[in-house]
Amino acid sequence: MLSFFRRRRLCLGMGVVMCMVVGMVVWGVRSFPRVTPAVFVVTPRRFQPRVQEELTTQPGTEAPPERLWHLDLKGGAPKVAIVESLMALAARAGATGVLVEWEDMFPYTGPLTNLSAHNAYSMVEVKRIVAAAESVGLQLIHLMQSLGHLEYVLKLPQWTELREGEGPSEACPSNPHTSLLIMQALEQLLAVAPATHVHIGADEVYTLGKCQLCKARELPPLQLYVDYLVMVAKKVKERWGVRVLVWDDMLRHAPIHTLRSLAPLVEPVVWAYGPDVTKLVPPYILRSYATIFPRVWLAPAFKGANGPRAIMPDAGRHAANTLAWVEVGQRLKQYSGLGVAGMVITGWSRYDHFAVLCELLPPSTPSLVLTLLVASRGFLTPAVLRDTHALLECPPHVIVQPSRDPLLWSTRDCSFPGANVATFLHRYARLRRDVRQLRRQVDEVSGWLTPYNVRHNFSSPSRVREGTSELESLMAALRDLEDEVEAVLTQYLNPSTVTEWREQHLTPLNLTLTSLSHMTHGLLARTTWPRRPLEWHPPFHTMPPPPPPPPPA
Ligand SMILES: *[C@@H]1O[C@H](CO)[C@@H](O)[C@H](O)[C@H]1NC(C)=O
Ligand SMILES: *[C@@H]1O[C@H](CO)[C@@H](O)[C@H](O)[C@H]1NC(C)=O
Ligand SMILES: *[C@@H]1O[C@H](CO)[C@@H](O)[C@H](O)[C@H]1NC(C)=O
Ligand SMILES: [Zn+2]
Repeated sequence: MLSFFRRRRLCLGMGVVMCMVVGMVVWGVRSFPRVTPAVFVVTPRRFQPRVQEELTTQPGTEAPPERLWHLDLKGGAPKVAIVESLMALAARAGATGVLVEWEDMFPYTGPLTNLSAHNAYSMVEVKRIVAAAESVGLQLIHLMQSLGHLEYVLKLPQWTELREGEGPSEACPSNPHTSLLIMQALEQLLAVAPATHVHIGADEVYTLGKCQLCKARELPPLQLYVDYLVMVAKKVKERWGVRVLVWDDMLRHAPIHTLRSLAPLVEPVVWAYGPDVTKLVPPYILRSYATIFPRVWLAPAFKGANGPRAIMPDAGRHAANTLAWVEVGQRLKQYSGLGVAGMVITGWSRYDHFAVLCELLPPSTPSLVLTLLVASRGFLTPAVLRDTHALLECPPHVIVQPSRDPLLWSTRDCSFPGANVATFLHRYARLRRDVRQLRRQVDEVSGWLTPYNVRHNFSSPSRVREGTSELESLMAALRDLEDEVEAVLTQYLNPSTVTEWREQHLTPLNLTLTSLSHMTHGLLARTTWPRRPLEWHPPFHTMPPPPPPPPPA
């Protein structure tokens, strides 16, 4: 990002066209140095007198025509009332549609019954979600994974024969039952909520061509993949007359002649989540998409893209990522004729079906609002931050400033649904930091709490008390959080999600503190100590036999 701007300034001295050519070439081939993500607030005034390229961030320029909010239900699916209020808020922030990834939260029926989680939405709830989108003018688009990331299907004994390879992630593209299953599932989704677009996923398919059926076809893995997409997209278009979207990552390095067969059938959704999107998707890839596909979607993220264990989204980073896509989209549209259909603002709830929950949706609302505003305005100015402030119903003392507060913790004082979860998470994050610090102090710093001290119950009581003086207050803080987790999270999430979150986040703190507490009690129980040398105690039964003890003096 930084280097891009530096180069841009350098460009001012050169002709615009010349500069674009050089810029694109340099841009496309060099790898970028890692830079700290930073939000740059673009003020219109600063950009006023610049060359034409700079004016693309001016108010009133063309933002991507569609802005879809990706509602990923594969983890932390919110209660319907929360979905309803988030839909209204997303629409006010500039969303034009919602891309719903139901995964196992849709109440499938008939032969697909077992696809649904035991705590899936009921059909009544699904209809409420569909109605909520409609009432605020959001077009609802279903995202149904069709080849990879089918863990929720392939993990079940019923569908193991569809697996490609041994793992449960990817299905066989050559098995006719794979596309049959996808069509049956889509049939149920579209019966409840007819749509004009369908997203068939298809990202991260790495296990292609391993099974006998596939091997017999003697095709390269990428061809198996493309042929499968062509087949599914054709079926979907024939059956419902919809536009078909796919994630683009598998197509990035495909030769042009391979992509041509997909051109009339699918619209790639090009995703990249850093503040410098061209690092992952260099402009030459976008230019090649521009020559092949009439319509392409661009995808930044508002959460779920900053480590699978993150608890709060880095809104600053996501706003920069969104702005980068807006700018790259405008530039490629202008200079390469890229047909930008719109933007999909992704919000992963887990990295995959088996992963820990990443950022929960309700406390990620500020990031959703900010990124949607950036996408729908096409710039990031103080006015956008003021509108974020207003939409989140923040009191005057709250300052929304992602460059200084990238996780937007300040907004936990606002009144959007989810603000109290942010407050809760803020306290959790502080406690976790303090517990880790204590653990590190005990494990690596203190001279009186080593495993040797513990094994032999041999330590200085005052030093033990000093080294663990915070233990009681940390345990009290944890007990408070354990009480609060129910009260706060159950307002938003179903009970099993609350249990999962608690087990993933509070239980480890409990185990750490409990074991430190046992240790302390053991060490403090003694009032007299043996003469040295201390008797050998095997630390673990798996350890090799101890060296012979030194002869008694
Ligand atoms: C669902 O799974 C159960 C247990 O594996 C099985 O007995 C049942 O037949 C399955 N239901 C359907 C509709 O396939
Ligand atoms: C740790 O978990 C146990 C068992 O659930 C509970 O009784 C105890 O109060 C917890 N300790 C803290 C400090 O929260
Ligand atoms: C250390 O103290 C604890 C608690 O008093 C006791 O159960 C344990 O046996 C002691 N261990 C040794 C090695 O003395
Ligand atoms: Zn196969």
